[in-house]
Amino acid sequence: MPATKPAPKSAKKPKPAPKAIQLKEGKGRLYIGDCREVLPTIPECQNKQVDLIFADPPFNWKRAYDKWDDNLPVQEYLDFTTEWLDLCVDALAPHGTMWVNIPDDWAAEIVVHLKKRRMFMVNWCVWHYRFGQNTNGRFINSKVHALYFCKDPASRTWNPTEVMEVSDRRSIYFDKRTEEKRDGAPAGMRLPMDVWYGQYWGRIQGNNKERRHNHDNQLPEVYLERVVRACTNPGDLVLDPFNGSGTTGTVALDYDRRFIGVEYSKDLAKSAAERMEAGMIRKGALEGASTAIFAPRAKPRTA
Ligand SMILES: C[S@@+](CC[C@H](N)C(=O)[O-])C[C@H]1O[C@@H](n2cnc3c(N)ncnc32)[C@H](O)[C@@H]1O
Repeated sequence: MPATKPAPKSAKKPKPAPKAIQLKEGKGRLYIGDCREVLPTIPECQNKQVDLIFADPPFNWKRAYDKWDDNLPVQEYLDFTTEWLDLCVDALAPHGTMWVNIPDDWAAEIVVHLKKRRMFMVNWCVWHYRFGQNTNGRFINSKVHALYFCKDPASRTWNPTEVMEVSDRRSIYFDKRTEEKRDGAPAGMRLPMDVWYGQYWGRIQGNNKERRHNHDNQLPEVYLERVVRACTNPGDLVLDPFNGSGTTGTVALDYDRRFIGVEYSKDLAKSAAERMEAGMIRKGALEGASTAIFAPRAKPRTA
């Protein structure tokens, strides 16, 4: 008599999602907890319905976050990193894009891991800021990496005209070729380069109008505005597993995207929720801007 097969074990049911803070009449939700525990419980993550993930994790720089220990042993930090990266890749829609904001310390490990997960690198951007921590023993740190990955380069959402800036040819050289070009971009405009800097791109500190007190490592609105407008359409779903002061959600909701955030600290989450309800301070600040670093070298042409 053939041995009877053991009944298949029923697949382990995921825990239900914890209660979330509702934002902007249900267009957004903010969960409190460790993103490694919360993400697997969110239905949109289980169903791979997330269009854009923006992740700005703790850098393990001993920052005084309200609750999170930002001083883990190196291997523990790397294990934490691969765990949340894998959960994000699993939650992303097939046409989705994923951005990671990360310093020199960990960028290489993250790029290698995402490539092993068959993610495609679209750009390795750099956010350049002035006023890094002053040092005498090495060059002053003035950048963070903005890693732009997608699952499928052919089907990713990409809206170049949403984020164009004035070309150097127009603002410095008054070169008529930029006014007459036929590359699909409006006259005198081009896509930003992969090093991001300029007015409003500084670190948020001191008396910066955008600053939210008690939040460390707050990103400037213009950074998220560029990412959200270039990589999503209105109605799309944006996820930030490390919500912080809520820059991603503030921008996403103001641009009519849906939003899900996760934040480890209850107090930081409450204050971020207030900010996301209030909305952006610099909406559209980059419209018509130029990042030229030289003064005009010619005279404007007259007709
Ligand atoms: C670098 S900050 C994010 C800043 C954010 N991009 C902004 O513009 O305000 C990282 C945030 O992640 C939170 N955090 C750290 N570990 C977490 C975890 N495992 N799950 C969820 N949130 C976490 C910290 O409390 C902190 O608020």
